[in-house]
Amino acid sequence: MKIDVLPVFGDITEKQLRGKLAVVFDVLRATSTIVTALANGCREVVPVLTVEEALAYAEDHPDAILGGERDSLLIPGFHLGNSPLEFTSGRVKGKTVVLTTTNGTRAIRRAARGSAGVLIGSLLNIKAVAEEIAGAGYDVVMVCAGTRGCFSLEDTVAAGMVCRELARTVPGKKAPLLESDFAAAACRLADFYSKDPLRALYDSLHGQKLAARGFSEDLTFCSRLNSAGIAPGYRHGRIFTVPFTVPGN
Ligand code: MLT
Repeated sequence: MKIDVLPVFGDITEKQLRGKLAVVFDVLRATSTIVTALANGCREVVPVLTVEEALAYAEDHPDAILGGERDSLLIPGFHLGNSPLEFTSGRVKGKTVVLTTTNGTRAIRRAARGSAGVLIGSLLNIKAVAEEIAGAGYDVVMVCAGTRGCFSLEDTVAAGMVCRELARTVPGKKAPLLESDFAAAACRLADFYSKDPLRALYDSLHGQKLAARGFSEDLTFCSRLNSAGIAPGYRHGRIFTVPFTVPGN
């Protein structure tokens, strides 16, 4: 199995994705929020690009919960922001959540163009994602959402942790082949932060901005390694958990 890690989603080409399984990371906070919503019984998450798209969806589906952020804050008229702590089972169980965020939901939609399938990764579900990848048998491209076109430490650390986990999860088989120096760097970063993932979130610029805006509890929550045993997948405009099987598998 070959694995690459891409630092930001905006630069991805269809060639880089073709025939591969993409895993999208936006640890702070979109993919952590999606994993949490689904772990709390949400039926599906519909990632959309714009506020207008979300409002149009809600007009056709009045029971849908509108969630997301602009500049990390609640969007006027929306039910929920982008804090995973808001996506409790009381709010989302059995519901469709329509989510629009600055980077994460755009990265997911971009990764779907041309790839064999898309998984949703975060620190919360490293093991579950590694297991899904190991069972799928595809080469993998880890897509870090980044922040406004720049490299994000926390996404890269999470991608590196999945690479490390894969090396353990596929016993007896050949260790995954890293396709770039950035993938090698992600693994080294993951080694460095493995004992203290929260430190990676506080070392990151976006983490520091969120903490300054009063979202420190989100950093703590998003750093809880393997607290969710699910590997959600995106298909036909929706993110869901079970049963998710990569096409062709
Ligand atoms: C994003 O998708 O850009 C992030 O999730 C922003 C945030 O932390 O709310």
